Amino acid sequence: MSRILITSALPYINGIKHLGTLAGSMLPADVYARFQRARGRETLYICATDEHGTPTELAAAEAGLDPATFCALAHAVQADLGEKFGLRWDHFGRSSSPQNHRLTQRFAQQLWEAGFIEERITQQVYSNADRRFLPDRYVIGTCPHCGYESARGDQCENCTRVLDPADLLHPRSAVSGSTDIEIRDSKHLFLRQSLFADRLRVWIDSKKGEWPLLVTSIALKWLDEGLQDRGITRDLAWGVPVNASEWGPNPDGATPDIEGLAGKVFYVWFDAPIEYIAATAEWADARAVEAGTGPAPDADWERWWRQPEAHDVKYVEFMGKDNVPFHTVGFPCTLMGANERLDAAGRWSVVNTAPWKVVDELKGFNWLDYYGGRFSTSQNRGVFMDQALELLAPDYWRWWIVANAPETSDASFVWEQFQMQVNADLADVLGNFVNRICKFAETRFEGIVPPRGEITALESRLSGDLALRLAELTQHLEDREFRKATTALRQIWVLGNGYLTEAAPWTAIKTDVARAGTVVNIGLNLVALFARLSSPFIPFAAARIADAIGEASPGPWPAPGVGSLGLPDDLEPGRPIHAPEVLFRKVENDQVAEWRARFGGPESA
Ligand code: MF3
Ligand code: ZN
Repeated sequence: MSRILITSALPYINGIKHLGTLAGSMLPADVYARFQRARGRETLYICATDEHGTPTELAAAEAGLDPATFCALAHAVQADLGEKFGLRWDHFGRSSSPQNHRLTQRFAQQLWEAGFIEERITQQVYSNADRRFLPDRYVIGTCPHCGYESARGDQCENCTRVLDPADLLHPRSAVSGSTDIEIRDSKHLFLRQSLFADRLRVWIDSKKGEWPLLVTSIALKWLDEGLQDRGITRDLAWGVPVNASEWGPNPDGATPDIEGLAGKVFYVWFDAPIEYIAATAEWADARAVEAGTGPAPDADWERWWRQPEAHDVKYVEFMGKDNVPFHTVGFPCTLMGANERLDAAGRWSVVNTAPWKVVDELKGFNWLDYYGGRFSTSQNRGVFMDQALELLAPDYWRWWIVANAPETSDASFVWEQFQMQVNADLADVLGNFVNRICKFAETRFEGIVPPRGEITALESRLSGDLALRLAELTQHLEDREFRKATTALRQIWVLGNGYLTEAAPWTAIKTDVARAGTVVNIGLNLVALFARLSSPFIPFAAARIADAIGEASPGPWPAPGVGSLGLPDDLEPGRPIHAPEVLFRKVENDQVAEWRARFGGPESA
């Protein structure tokens, strides 16, 4: 496996994302992508806005815009915020792109012609007041499973069960609030997921122990509950149109009901994951345009997505737990249905000579909440990306979120704990170390790297400790164990501080300048090492640290055992360095008090 393909769940186009959304997909994916790039692996990190579906139509209507205009504006806002947070996507696409229209229609056609899609007459909620069908979130009512009263027609927010709008008790329109609602017949397409149940179980079982338990248990729970066929079309105007007129007959010789399907679009959860692939095509096209070579050949993106060209690609997905069913069942059905055939005896065989890649590693997260309650725009609770950037530089947030990633259980954002942790880790440990050694080199060694003299037992011990921690850190990042990775990195920073305190160059310099120079040399090489290792997590600070020691960028991830002391060892004596401006200012009590008042404290949860 030499290439890494990374996707993070596509954020819905409507609304600015809160810290919980960052924690559950985009940020860990970015840390992982940066780490893999630093290791020298060819890496492609793809994300996009998820632009279809009822929430988009509802949000656009509320903003007084048509959906296309609304999405174009909102995409630009999210792209800008992502960039400011240091989310270094190779491409941040849009699920409404022409590439996704084409691919979604192509998958649907293949699935139909292979017999994996069937037509059904369904009963849909129709609002007399609004004179339209009310799919998915257009209906609000009581969840039939848990009794939650504001459940939306597609999924209950409270118990996470997937719903059909017609299941809701006491339904009302999300558009007008009207309860003047009736049920009408409407023709729709269904993906026959039930046919895939055994095939999926074999696959998920094979991932036990490899994927987080959270992920395999959610997937198996879905299979245990009996896999339902899913409606993949909707009575909506905004989306990828159903292109039934282009389809051939299915294996039974039936052609689709073109008239009955006219004016319908695919369900957002059908086209959104396909956008992972389509966004890769957008990426290839954008690069080709930049290079002035016109539209890219399919080979440029198929190289990442289709075997055999993609045989050396490891595909890694990041997402919150609510997304796991769609990525372990829904999307794999789409891909497997285009790759394989099922015969009458229930045997599967690969029929596609260039089969689509199915996820290799799936990292799922629990929730990051706010003082034990949900982040909520409408209730003005919690911190959203734009606000976070007004308060502090992105690295504070990145560090705290990754260090507290909700991996094995839900996690909570609490201002006081945030303050304590960023002050301790970033200001007292990392910032203090870099500052101490660079300042000392500035004042006592004229701001140049002194030569390294004889090595003592202190340095040998440091070298052994570093090698151990570095191996741990590297392994945790490979395993996508983010909390453990931040612990290992913090321990590495602490080693630096411990070394300086023990080696005490400020004392040594009084009697032995050469010895003090050696310590400073080692210290500055540690600074170089810290810039490299910190870069996936806190890229902005890492860039400034690299700059302080005269490097244009933090440099590649060190191979284990590299350099005489396990240090990158590349700061030649005589090189000029300088102390950076304060790397991390401490978060003060009065700031915390103010922010807690502004964004809500425990009482708001
Ligand atoms: N927009 C969805 C959410 O935020 C995630 C879509 S992931 C995709 O929950 F794969 F479908 F794109
Ligand atoms: Zn429920």
